[in-house]
Amino acid sequence: MASELHIRSHDPIDEISPDVYGHFAEHLGRCIYGGIWVGEDDDQVATEDGIRMDTIELLQDLDMPVLRWPGGCFADDYHWEDGIGPREERPTRRNAFWTQGREEIPEDPNTFGTDEFMQVCDLLDTEPYLAVNVGNGTPAEGADWAEYCNYDGGTELAELREENGSEEPHDVKYWGVGNESWGCGGRFSPEEYAEQYRRHATYLRSVNAMLSDVDMELVAVGHIGEDWNRDFLRELRNCSEWVEGPYDLMEHMSVHRYYEAGGDTDFDDDQYYRLLARSRLVAQDIDNTVDALSTYARESDISIIVDEWGVWHPEATNTNGLEQENTVRDAISAAGVFDDFHARADVVSMANIAQTVNVLQCLVQTNEEEAWTTPTYQVFDLYKDHMGGTALRTVVDTDNEEVEDEPFDVPIVSASASEQDGEVYVTLSNRDPDDAEEVEIDLDLEDASVAGAEVLFDDQGVREYSTPDNAEEFEAADLDVDQTGDSTFVVDAPAGSVVGLTISE
Ligand code: AHR
Repeated sequence: MASELHIRSHDPIDEISPDVYGHFAEHLGRCIYGGIWVGEDDDQVATEDGIRMDTIELLQDLDMPVLRWPGGCFADDYHWEDGIGPREERPTRRNAFWTQGREEIPEDPNTFGTDEFMQVCDLLDTEPYLAVNVGNGTPAEGADWAEYCNYDGGTELAELREENGSEEPHDVKYWGVGNESWGCGGRFSPEEYAEQYRRHATYLRSVNAMLSDVDMELVAVGHIGEDWNRDFLRELRNCSEWVEGPYDLMEHMSVHRYYEAGGDTDFDDDQYYRLLARSRLVAQDIDNTVDALSTYARESDISIIVDEWGVWHPEATNTNGLEQENTVRDAISAAGVFDDFHARADVVSMANIAQTVNVLQCLVQTNEEEAWTTPTYQVFDLYKDHMGGTALRTVVDTDNEEVEDEPFDVPIVSASASEQDGEVYVTLSNRDPDDAEEVEIDLDLEDASVAGAEVLFDDQGVREYSTPDNAEEFEAADLDVDQTGDSTFVVDAPAGSVVGLTISE
């Protein structure tokens, strides 16, 4: 049976926040050091003030909307003042969270700090998103960082930033209050995090209110555990008048979700589908968090951020700096997660894949001389036309692959659609690793016609991954689509592929 896709242009969901296509880069392994920053003395790749330009140029093509930094677990042991001023005077510190199992304690030379990060954001034309240290930092430290970044003159910290070469404020809008406070970020109970959150957020807000033109937006980092977010929100509500008025302390609540199902490149069909089934947990986490907010913050319009997500294979360990190969399977799972984000465009305001370069489900990999793209990069590239579009309700009628002991099946076809500037953009994946799938699409519009279609991974199997020599073979190729009626189309989606289709109204 062919799959069917019914796109309801008269049933819009909401604008797809461009920030859903955001990134996350931590001081971990070779993400920052080696992947983004090599220093001014490196003579193997072109650099701008020490920033690796081959990586930057690949990322520039993605129109990255937002970049979260410096962690991750690293954020809750990071003292931002270590990373400003003349580089040769900055202290080398241990990188506390990525030491387990390693023979040498990883050190952080602090040569990449706030002003270097802002330079990367400028090169990428992307919004910075900073995570403040709640684990072993103080509210004053966080507020000082906000003042250093955002205050436009007058105070010692604003002048320090100017002396350090950044005359204009960095205007940082997004501030995460800690990271995984239930784990590496301090092992707080939900009640303890509520107390910490209240203190840190209050002082970050004071910078917003008194010293800066930027409307800072604060993010509480939640948990995927059943009751954690509820307990945190209940406590925060009980211990302050935070829902209304001046004590309104949060714009976003975030969750993190990683998933795996065995080997990065060596997996059987059961593991293939199992990973896709588990990727659906991201949507479940969003729905649970919305549920908790509707109980404890009914009056607010707090939105959801998934500020760490992606595949974390067993091969990625502390000893190798969380590096793994990323196959077509992983890229297909990312396409399905984006479809789930679009279906929740009314509540999801941002998402940040973990992590941008070299670490976990990265988009760019590097060696000393080259940078190249992964299959997941190609999905981001294909999907970027959804950014800022209005998500349209999309009903998919397709077979389901059942996976034993998993809470979710895997629909063979996953899809989403959005409308922007008189065009409807449709993305769909055929997750069957062996057989092509015919997909019949109908749109409730008159006289719609195909303006173009592209396909990813037509020539690759789901176990393949990119190397410096073959990365370009994973790029999108043109695809023929049959127009079968007024606003009906048929796509023959190759086995294990992702398709992007533009329809003109
Ligand atoms: O992305 C790797 C780590 O995963 C992050 O540092 C932490 O927040 C999460 O547990």
